[in-house]
Amino acid sequence: MRIILRIFLVPFLLWSLVSRAEDMIKIGVILSMTGGTAAFGEVTWTGMRIGRSIRPNVLGKEVELILVDDKSDKIESANAAQRLIQKEKVIGILGDVASSNSLAIAPIAEENHIPHISPASTNPIVTLNRKYVFRACFIDPFQGEVMAKFAYNDLGAKKAAVLMDIGQDYSVGLSNAFQKTFTKLGGKVISRVNYLSGDQDFTAQLTAIKETNPDVIAIPGYYTEIALIAKQARELGIKTTLISGDGAEAPELTEIGGKAVEGLYYTTHFDEKAISTPLGKKYVEIFRKKYNHAPDALGALGADAYLIMLDAIERAGSTDPEKIRDEIEKTKDFQGVTGVIFIDSNHNAVKNVVIRQVKGKESVYVSSVNP
Ligand code: PHE
Repeated sequence: MRIILRIFLVPFLLWSLVSRAEDMIKIGVILSMTGGTAAFGEVTWTGMRIGRSIRPNVLGKEVELILVDDKSDKIESANAAQRLIQKEKVIGILGDVASSNSLAIAPIAEENHIPHISPASTNPIVTLNRKYVFRACFIDPFQGEVMAKFAYNDLGAKKAAVLMDIGQDYSVGLSNAFQKTFTKLGGKVISRVNYLSGDQDFTAQLTAIKETNPDVIAIPGYYTEIALIAKQARELGIKTTLISGDGAEAPELTEIGGKAVEGLYYTTHFDEKAISTPLGKKYVEIFRKKYNHAPDALGALGADAYLIMLDAIERAGSTDPEKIRDEIEKTKDFQGVTGVIFIDSNHNAVKNVVIRQVKGKESVYVSSVNP
């Protein structure tokens, strides 16, 4: 049996068992397999491989996925894109998850006219005014709006505190989107404090927040910091409901956060209780059989990014990156894993936001919101 997945582990150490590379369609994958958001890469890669197991061929050729680990570092993301395009001659790129990393890949894809699909980066600027860059997910103005409406209408919160990670474009954008809608609804953001990914101690920020006595604390960041913030908040006696965005979704949230994250609400992209397509069903079946637990949103988006690329290659009838780009742009009514996908004029996928809540070690489905 031939193995068609090549993985570069840093610094581009080739873990390769590939021989007939010329007959294959090469697609580059850039993910954070190590570093601060390693959980994102791991689960996305799992989903992409499931996507590939569902559809391993296109135009009569086998697809080779070439994975490069960017170590959760945007400079590495840019280097990975250069390498995949110049050396590996990939015809398309999938990745990354964290918006700051995708923002580093996008200009390189653009310059080289190579189609790039991010599975999960939700910051609007990733695709903005770019011809070759797309995403398989919704964007943060919508996600932030859903978070704010949920906090105001469903939780009855009138005063919110926001903790923003100033090191991540995602967190800055989502915090602003949350605040915009929350304020428009009549709520008030009574404290807004900053932190930086990698920080360990949040007591100063949390002490300031505690004094303002908010009804809800929004933490639009990534899982490690959310978990640590939750723990330290509970230690300081803050019992306030916590709400986050998709960046909360990783097994590490409950592994690090334990009881402190119990009850936390977060917005995300997928839940097996809200499946609307045959491909979604099939994906869940494969996932559950293999891993014996509920599938996560990132894996599902990874599969979708891959399958959108393959669908476009097939419609293009060619491996010419220009033609593939044109077809990705025309994607509509694509029956994906996460739902029916329509790529809009800004290259974003128009899709539902799912709200989930942490219960024990897992999260449970709360509701879905249409665009
Ligand atoms: N939306 C996040 C970002 O843009 C990435 C993410 C998506 C993380 C889905 C977890 C789940 O940075």
